[in-house]
Amino acid sequence: MMVDYQMLLENAKSARERAYTPYSRFKVGAAVLTASGRIFHGCNIENAAYPVCLCAERSALAAAWSAGETEFVAIAVVADTPGPVAPCGMCRQFMFELAPDMPVLLANLADQTQPTTPRELLPGGFARESLTAND
Ligand code: THU
Repeated sequence: MMVDYQMLLENAKSARERAYTPYSRFKVGAAVLTASGRIFHGCNIENAAYPVCLCAERSALAAAWSAGETEFVAIAVVADTPGPVAPCGMCRQFMFELAPDMPVLLANLADQTQPTTPRELLPGGFARESLTAND
Protein backbone atom coordinates (compact mmCIF):
# COMPACT_ATOMS: atom_id res chain seq x y z
CA MET A 1 0.00 0.00 0.00
CA MET A 2 1.26 3.48 -0.87
CA VAL A 3 1.59 5.50 2.30
CA ASP A 4 0.93 9.24 2.31
CA TYR A 5 3.27 10.14 5.14
CA GLN A 6 2.43 13.84 5.04
CA MET A 7 -1.25 12.98 5.55
CA LEU A 8 -0.39 10.51 8.34
CA LEU A 9 1.70 13.20 10.04
CA GLU A 10 -1.15 15.70 9.79
CA ASN A 11 -3.39 13.13 11.50
CA ALA A 12 -0.80 12.70 14.26
CA LYS A 13 -0.71 16.47 14.74
CA SER A 14 -4.51 16.61 15.13
CA ALA A 15 -4.39 13.75 17.61
CA ARG A 16 -1.68 15.58 19.55
CA GLU A 17 -4.03 18.51 20.14
CA ARG A 18 -6.31 16.17 22.09
CA ALA A 19 -3.58 15.05 24.50
CA TYR A 20 -4.40 15.26 28.22
CA THR A 21 -1.21 16.56 29.79
CA PRO A 22 -1.92 18.61 32.93
CA TYR A 23 1.31 17.37 34.54
CA SER A 24 4.03 17.44 31.89
CA ARG A 25 2.40 19.87 29.45
CA PHE A 26 4.18 17.77 26.82
CA LYS A 27 1.73 16.77 24.13
CA VAL A 28 2.37 13.81 21.82
CA GLY A 29 0.24 12.62 18.92
CA ALA A 30 0.27 9.44 16.88
CA ALA A 31 -1.60 8.15 13.86
CA VAL A 32 -1.45 4.57 12.65
CA LEU A 33 -2.55 3.37 9.21
CA THR A 34 -3.97 -0.15 9.15
CA ALA A 35 -4.12 -2.68 6.30
CA SER A 36 -7.79 -1.86 5.62
CA GLY A 37 -6.83 1.76 4.96
CA ARG A 38 -8.20 3.17 8.20
CA ILE A 39 -6.32 5.63 10.38
CA PHE A 40 -6.44 5.49 14.17
CA HIS A 41 -5.40 8.36 16.40
CA GLY A 42 -3.56 8.27 19.70
CA CYS A 43 -2.52 10.92 22.20
CA ASN A 44 -0.88 10.81 25.58
CA ILE A 45 -3.26 10.66 28.53
CA GLU A 46 -1.68 11.49 31.86
CA ASN A 47 -2.65 10.59 35.40
CA ALA A 48 -2.18 12.08 38.86
CA ALA A 49 -0.43 8.82 39.67
CA TYR A 50 2.39 9.58 37.24
CA PRO A 51 3.42 6.02 36.25
CA VAL A 52 -0.12 5.42 34.97
CA CYS A 53 0.43 7.89 32.09
CA LEU A 54 -0.40 6.45 28.68
CA CYS A 55 1.75 7.39 25.69
CA ALA A 56 0.39 8.42 22.28
CA GLU A 57 1.90 5.46 20.42
CA ARG A 58 0.33 2.84 22.69
CA SER A 59 -2.94 4.74 22.70
CA ALA A 60 -3.09 4.65 18.85
CA LEU A 61 -2.13 0.99 18.53
CA ALA A 62 -4.57 -0.06 21.26
CA ALA A 63 -7.40 1.88 19.58
CA ALA A 64 -6.71 0.12 16.28
CA TRP A 65 -6.28 -3.32 17.80
CA SER A 66 -9.47 -2.94 19.85
CA ALA A 67 -11.37 -2.12 16.65
CA GLY A 68 -10.21 -5.41 15.16
CA GLU A 69 -7.43 -3.86 13.08
CA THR A 70 -4.35 -5.95 13.75
CA GLU A 71 -2.22 -5.31 10.65
CA PHE A 72 -0.29 -2.08 10.81
CA VAL A 73 1.09 -0.39 7.70
CA ALA A 74 2.79 2.67 9.21
CA ILE A 75 2.70 5.00 12.20
CA ALA A 76 3.58 8.67 12.59
CA VAL A 77 4.48 10.18 15.98
CA VAL A 78 4.84 13.89 16.63
CA ALA A 79 5.70 16.23 19.49
CA ASP A 80 6.97 19.78 19.91
CA THR A 81 10.61 18.73 20.19
CA PRO A 82 13.83 20.26 18.78
CA GLY A 83 14.19 17.27 16.45
CA PRO A 84 11.97 14.27 15.63
CA VAL A 85 10.46 12.92 18.87
CA ALA A 86 12.14 9.93 20.52
CA PRO A 87 9.64 7.22 21.56
CA CYS A 88 10.00 5.99 25.14
CA GLY A 89 11.31 2.51 25.85
CA MET A 90 7.90 1.10 26.73
CA CYS A 91 6.46 2.25 23.40
CA ARG A 92 9.44 0.83 21.52
CA GLN A 93 8.71 -2.54 23.15
CA PHE A 94 4.97 -2.21 22.45
CA MET A 95 5.48 -1.43 18.75
CA PHE A 96 8.09 -4.20 18.48
CA GLU A 97 5.55 -6.77 19.68
CA LEU A 98 2.76 -5.83 17.26
CA ALA A 99 4.63 -4.66 14.16
CA PRO A 100 8.42 -5.01 14.36
CA ASP A 101 9.06 -3.97 10.76
CA MET A 102 6.37 -1.34 10.31
CA PRO A 103 7.65 2.01 9.02
CA VAL A 104 7.68 4.54 11.87
CA LEU A 105 7.85 8.24 11.06
CA LEU A 106 9.15 10.28 13.99
CA ALA A 107 8.53 14.00 13.63
CA ASN A 108 8.29 17.38 15.29
CA LEU A 109 5.93 20.28 14.67
CA ALA A 110 8.45 21.87 12.29
CA ASP A 111 8.08 18.81 10.04
CA GLN A 112 11.56 17.51 10.74
CA THR A 113 11.21 13.76 10.27
CA GLN A 114 13.11 10.57 10.87
CA PRO A 115 11.94 7.31 9.28
CA THR A 116 12.69 4.18 11.27
CA THR A 117 11.19 0.86 12.45
CA PRO A 118 10.50 -0.71 15.86
CA ARG A 119 13.27 -3.25 15.18
CA GLU A 120 15.73 -0.43 14.59
CA LEU A 121 14.48 1.46 17.66
CA LEU A 122 14.84 -1.58 19.92
CA PRO A 123 17.87 -3.68 19.01
CA GLY A 124 17.75 -7.10 20.67
CA GLY A 125 14.16 -6.49 21.77
CA PHE A 126 12.36 -9.01 23.96
CA ALA A 127 9.98 -10.98 21.75
CA ARG A 128 7.55 -13.90 21.87
CA GLU A 129 10.37 -16.24 20.89
CA SER A 130 12.28 -15.10 23.96
CA LEU A 131 9.63 -16.71 26.18
CA THR A 132 10.23 -20.22 24.78
CA ALA A 133 13.44 -20.34 26.80
CA ASN A 134 11.33 -21.59 29.73
CA ASP A 135 9.74 -24.55 27.85
N1 THU B 1 5.17 10.41 25.85
C1 THU B 1 4.51 9.86 24.79
O1 THU B 1 3.29 10.01 24.65
N2 THU B 1 5.23 9.13 23.90
C2 THU B 1 6.58 8.94 24.01
O2 THU B 1 7.12 8.10 23.32
C3 THU B 1 7.35 9.77 24.94
C4 THU B 1 6.57 10.23 26.13
C5 THU B 1 4.39 11.20 26.82
C6 THU B 1 4.22 10.52 28.14
C7 THU B 1 3.97 11.69 29.06
O3 THU B 1 2.58 11.99 29.02
C8 THU B 1 4.73 12.83 28.41
O4 THU B 1 5.03 12.41 27.09
C9 THU B 1 6.01 13.21 29.11
O5 THU B 1 6.80 12.13 29.33
